[in-house]
Amino acid sequence: MTQNNLKGIVLAGGNGTRLAPLTNSLSKHLLPVYDKPMIYYPLSTLMLMGIKDILLITTKKDQLLFKNLLGTGENFGIKISYEVQEEPKGIAHAFILAETFIGDSKVVLILGDNIFYGHDLINQLVCSAAKDCDATIFAYRVQDPSRFGIINLNKDNLPTHIEEKPKSPKSDFAITGMYIYQNNVVEYAKKLTPSDRGELEISDLNNIYMEQNKLNVEILGRGIAWLDTGTFESLQDASFFIKTLEMRQGLKIGCPEEIAWRLNYINNKKFRDIVKKYVNSPYGNYLKKILRESK
Ligand code: DAU
Repeated sequence: MTQNNLKGIVLAGGNGTRLAPLTNSLSKHLLPVYDKPMIYYPLSTLMLMGIKDILLITTKKDQLLFKNLLGTGENFGIKISYEVQEEPKGIAHAFILAETFIGDSKVVLILGDNIFYGHDLINQLVCSAAKDCDATIFAYRVQDPSRFGIINLNKDNLPTHIEEKPKSPKSDFAITGMYIYQNNVVEYAKKLTPSDRGELEISDLNNIYMEQNKLNVEILGRGIAWLDTGTFESLQDASFFIKTLEMRQGLKIGCPEEIAWRLNYINNKKFRDIVKKYVNSPYGNYLKKILRESK
């Protein structure tokens, strides 16, 4: 299953100021979430959706670190290209930077600090991407809505109101960091004006689609975990969550080499070569184990 006309963007720029001093010299997206760099999780989600052409947007100073980690994507059987966002000009700014990359494709943008996990999740994401919609966003019930972009839905689950980090939220449904658009998103992003905090806001962009009745909202149910990792607490919680599941099942979450191999993005020989490079780390031992078990 590959999505030929669906491209992916991972947005991993910004200054990560809320996590200083952890982020004083290192991108937030390279910090560990249990046993892997944070970026592996959103990258894995796109790969599981069958997306093989991915643009990674980072700050200029961090780009080399990401290239050292992920390279061209060859080891994962995908193509990774890189773009610099000089300053954090907002999530919607990513679409302007990605104009050439997007071309005439539909595009999924995932925030580099968002982790999605759950039964049937990928099926839901793939089905949503296949719908003939201009824009699709994913809403998830949270206890602390003021921390997020919020969406209000009417009784027919149609969107009526979108607001970025409201002090008095009208709803408990947060808009998660995964967005799917037709390529007209570039044109719409260019029409936005910066908010008071100087950003092209993703909520303003989604409002444009909503006003034109072109916004499809999918609800991620309670069987799905959506974790953001933007605060010390949520970062720690995400690590414990991943650790708990991995220790219980003996299977890894967000392991791009495994995903690439299981989805036949890379063949057995390539996978064996990758496994050899890991020598004796627990991560390498895991890859060895799944290779052994497949025989
Ligand atoms: O996590 C979901 C939330 O993400 C949404 O509910 C909000 O509507 C959306 O605005 C966003 O809120 P955050 O406060 O979490 O955004 P933050 O500034 O932390 O950035 C999220 C990610 O995007 C983070 O990994 C850094 C990256 N980013 C952000 C901005 C503004 C960039 O790479 N460049 C940017 O200019």
